[in-house]
Amino acid sequence: MGYDAILLERKTAVAIIRINRPDKLNAMNAKVKEEIAAALGELEKDDTIRVAVITGVGDKAFVAGADINEFAGKTPIDQWNAYGPTSLYNVVDQFPKPLIAMVNGYCLGGGCELAMACDIRVASENAQFGQPEINIGIIPGGGGSQRLPRLVGLGKALELILTGDRIPASEAHRIGLVDLLVPHGDLEKRTLELAEKIASKSPVAVRLAKAAVKASVNLPLDQGLRQERSLFSVVFSTEDKEEGVKAFQEKRPPQWKGR
Ligand code: COA
Repeated sequence: MGYDAILLERKTAVAIIRINRPDKLNAMNAKVKEEIAAALGELEKDDTIRVAVITGVGDKAFVAGADINEFAGKTPIDQWNAYGPTSLYNVVDQFPKPLIAMVNGYCLGGGCELAMACDIRVASENAQFGQPEINIGIIPGGGGSQRLPRLVGLGKALELILTGDRIPASEAHRIGLVDLLVPHGDLEKRTLELAEKIASKSPVAVRLAKAAVKASVNLPLDQGLRQERSLFSVVFSTEDKEEGVKAFQEKRPPQWKGR
């Protein structure tokens, strides 16, 4: 499928989605959101792709938020429908393969929410983070009020959401919003190294591991441990488990089949 508002690049086992509105600091309008969701649908079905990366085109912005111009004239029911289970943030959250946010500049509002819905955030030292919705008289609607406190704690999330302040990537890293902080010039190289390392593992084990870890966010410990036990048992049905154990015993690298 062809795209206008994003670029979709496939490297061997890693795909990169680049949001392509640099003149608007990659603010996400309806078309951007629709195309990211479509690209993720395409990548989910593509067995050659093991890991996906999302970033923004240019040096200035990852995403400077949802497109504020599209808020004009929106009714409550419009927003209720647009921000439901099929919203981009939930599509990102439920993407079954590992998804890395490669944050290259402003990461604000819906941009920060997009990054938080991804699995791992790698940021350049130039990046800036924030939930500035309060400055235009609204509140986060793409999961910010729920995912930010889970990542950084209640007090810090409230400080950021109630002030609308922007913080540098170093501070975002310190509080747990950024997982890997790298020099700006190394951002793509370091992100791809991480993506390729994950892509080199058994894809079926990677998926199950991701599902198990993500379950921890929504489940009480006893139910989460039961979920882990189920998934741990399932992984023992795979050919990759047999291969991994055999390769260890034979002192050679494993050849994953993905089943
Ligand atoms: N929605 C729509 N357009 C946006 C946007 C957004 N969230 N963020 C930036 N843009 C547009 C600007 O309107 C401008 O377009 P123009 O050249 O047609 O006027 C262009 O992107 C460049 O932005 P500009 O404000 O000139 O850049 P800057 O370097 O002076 O400031 C920011 C950068 C990020 C501080 C500023 O753009 C900003 O505050 N953006 C809004 C951030 C926000 O509130 N996001 C949450 C939305 S809920």
